[in-house]
Amino acid sequence: MRLDRFLSNLPRFSRKDVRLALLAGRVTVDGTTVREPLHEVREFSRVAVDGEVLQAGKSARYFMLHKPPGCVSATTDPHHPTVLDLLQEPDKQELHIAGRLDFNTTGLMLITNDGQWSRRLTQPVTLLPKVYEVETEQPIGQHYIEQFAAGFYFAYEDLTTRPAQLVILGSHHARLTIVEGRYHQVKRMFGYFNNKVVSLHRERMGPLTLDPMLKPGEYRALTAEEIQHI
Ligand code: URA
Repeated sequence: MRLDRFLSNLPRFSRKDVRLALLAGRVTVDGTTVREPLHEVREFSRVAVDGEVLQAGKSARYFMLHKPPGCVSATTDPHHPTVLDLLQEPDKQELHIAGRLDFNTTGLMLITNDGQWSRRLTQPVTLLPKVYEVETEQPIGQHYIEQFAAGFYFAYEDLTTRPAQLVILGSHHARLTIVEGRYHQVKRMFGYFNNKVVSLHRERMGPLTLDPMLKPGEYRALTAEEIQHI
């Protein structure tokens, strides 16, 4: 919400009071004087007038989890453990997943209470590369590379996938970089060749790489630097 609206919604300030307080440099957001009425106030912002705190601001939380196989990328599930069950954190109902993985897919999963941050990470326009390690049932042919680069037509969405980079690491083993996150995207891409994905692991989402110190099921908070990368 804009700062002037945030302040004038409080019973003690008229619109004129707000204008004058802003002009006089009496308003701070996150400790910095702000005179700009359109400055964005978020649930995480600390807002004060004349040093009196009017909103303390929630703490924004960001975690990196090494998702193990056999858990659901959802906040609740009636039958299976969820990724949130792996977090020992308060107020877990405020958290959400930025980029889901299938039940048996492993690897990098980002969890936060900051919707703006997670949208930047997952919205299609940002074309953030996601890197997966893939193992398949059948051998992976050299001709796959060209097809991944050309794209696959997905009838359900009526679209052709954006160019993806396939690096063959072994007869049944590859590293794949995609910039979208369609439903079952990697499995459907290999499905074009009738080649079943038997193991799938996400290594990276844009600038964030799974911390090699994290064993499956373990997690840690992101560093300030990692948060700012998104
Ligand atoms: N593509 C898939 O098919 N599954 C995942 O979990 C992630 C990407």
